[in-house]
Amino acid sequence: MSVVDVFDAVAGTYDEARRRLVPCFDAFYGTAVEVAAPALRAALAAGRTPQVLDLGAGTGLLSLLLATAVPGVRLTLVDAAPAMLARATDQLHARSVAHRTVQADLSDDLPSGRYDAVVSALAIHHLDDDGKRGLYRRAAAALAPGGVFVNAEQVAGPTPALDRRYDEVWTARITELGSSPEEIAAARERMRHDRPATVAEQCRWLAEAGLVDVDCYFKEWRFAVFGGRAR
Ligand SMILES: C[S@@+](CC[C@H](N)C(=O)[O-])C[C@H]1O[C@@H](n2cnc3c(N)ncnc32)[C@H](O)[C@@H]1O
Repeated sequence: MSVVDVFDAVAGTYDEARRRLVPCFDAFYGTAVEVAAPALRAALAAGRTPQVLDLGAGTGLLSLLLATAVPGVRLTLVDAAPAMLARATDQLHARSVAHRTVQADLSDDLPSGRYDAVVSALAIHHLDDDGKRGLYRRAAAALAPGGVFVNAEQVAGPTPALDRRYDEVWTARITELGSSPEEIAAARERMRHDRPATVAEQCRWLAEAGLVDVDCYFKEWRFAVFGGRAR
């Protein structure tokens, strides 16, 4: 099964399981929204419709949170999985949020436009490291001046011992939160497609891509939020 098939197969139940599988859900997504929101509010204040590009948007979870925090944004959601995007469309339509969906691979050219924020959550770690670096370069180039890139991501531990510890802590927390052995096994099956990199490597690639003020704004074990801004 490809990564696309794996996510399309769970599109109907994906959202419901998120809070059990991402133990720090509120701080994790909330930080990504906090990082992106000022650039979007600045666009509104300048009389423009803020443009957001969500990479690997899935069912639109992060897009919806952004649209709630900053009403008036226009979202472009990119994902390779059509059933995940269909769910995003339903949810965004239901809340009358302006958006378009683009079914594409993250290694393809990005949808044309100048974006006030390029955002992503739990998606880019499916690319190999060259793919991540190339995507960071294209994302940086797609930002409007002063625009923000933020990635809420599952990351690798800086050493094998820490990576093992990240996994132990995650397993203990999601068990406490009520994930069943079947749910954990299914999540682990999806994780066979993961290619996570460390925060330090990814921040270096963002700086190499030309972003400034690159930083990790939040980290709890394997869940990290990092990014930077265009000059
Ligand atoms: C764990 S989900 C995250 C979805 C959403 N961003 C969220 O936070 O809930 C990962 C998403 O990345 C998408 N994805 C993974 N690899 C991709 C690729 N190479 N090109 C496009 N989409 C990809 C999957 O289809 C899936 O919808």
